[in-house]
Amino acid sequence: WASCAPYIRAINAAKKEKDAVILAHNYMTPEIYHGVADIVGDSLQLAIAATKVEQSTIVQCGVHFMAETSKILNPAKRVLIPDSRAGCSLASSITAADIAKMRAEYPGAPVVSYVNTTAEVKAASDICCTSSNAVEIVRAQDSDTVIMTPDGYLAQNVAKLVPEKRVVWWEGACIVHEQFTAEELRAFREDHPGVVIIAHPECPPDVIDEADFAGSTHGMISYVRTKKPEKVVMVTECSMSDNVAAELPETKFIRPCNICPHMKRISLENILWALHSGTEEVTVPEHLIGRAARAVERMIAVTK
Ligand code: 13P
Ligand code: SF4
Repeated sequence: WASCAPYIRAINAAKKEKDAVILAHNYMTPEIYHGVADIVGDSLQLAIAATKVEQSTIVQCGVHFMAETSKILNPAKRVLIPDSRAGCSLASSITAADIAKMRAEYPGAPVVSYVNTTAEVKAASDICCTSSNAVEIVRAQDSDTVIMTPDGYLAQNVAKLVPEKRVVWWEGACIVHEQFTAEELRAFREDHPGVVIIAHPECPPDVIDEADFAGSTHGMISYVRTKKPEKVVMVTECSMSDNVAAELPETKFIRPCNICPHMKRISLENILWALHSGTEEVTVPEHLIGRAARAVERMIAVTK
């Protein structure tokens, strides 16, 4: 932290000078999450926050699809991402042409796409969802069959909770969450009796079955904040435990975690560079903005 202090001071000063706000995902490292972020949250919270910011520049500390979502919702604002190579294995697993193929296979079924998608895929979808509202969004569709893309595990986890619908899915996966196994979770219970296990719904269904609670990154954080378990495992990206552990000294965090290499591309150094240089600016082609915004706004309307 001592070595971070000059960067944190410089970033907080540059934000004021450049009329910028920093939106940061829960997977950012503690120095970003606690040191320079103005708003932190899960994908849904960040998308809603993006509709309300007053500053002329948004610096998105997260991955590219998150910055694109902010731009889609705020085409008149300047949206910067400190490293545009920060991608996502889910977003890169599907194209608009793949959505068209799914529509041809299941005629008339609505396409619910996770926000972890490109603007092109959002524009080809009927509505978006995030891990915190996916059940609600699928349930709200006026159709017996619902197409969910691109996360196959999220879709299967949602399908179990919405048995009245036939959910079909694309076989994308998150490189962080697909690595966890139910066997690993059972071993934590044996090694740490009484441990509470909470997991992200991008994990395989047998992992979710083994967990005590599943929820979005914000859902997981709220669970730990309110229940204050004695021992907990957060089955997700590594920075989550680091960020909450600072607030909850009485809780023991057992840390089996996987790093998202995309999220970890964002650093104090490149945030400062983004603020000073105005790069890298995120743009979304004009012809996609309207349709992509419609899919995201429909989601926000269902969630409110
Ligand atoms: P949340 O919406 O739960 O924050 O998830 C985003 C994500 O990329 C998790 O891997
Ligand atoms: Fe994508 Fe997984 Fe990284 Fe989230 S954790 S940004 S879903 S690769």
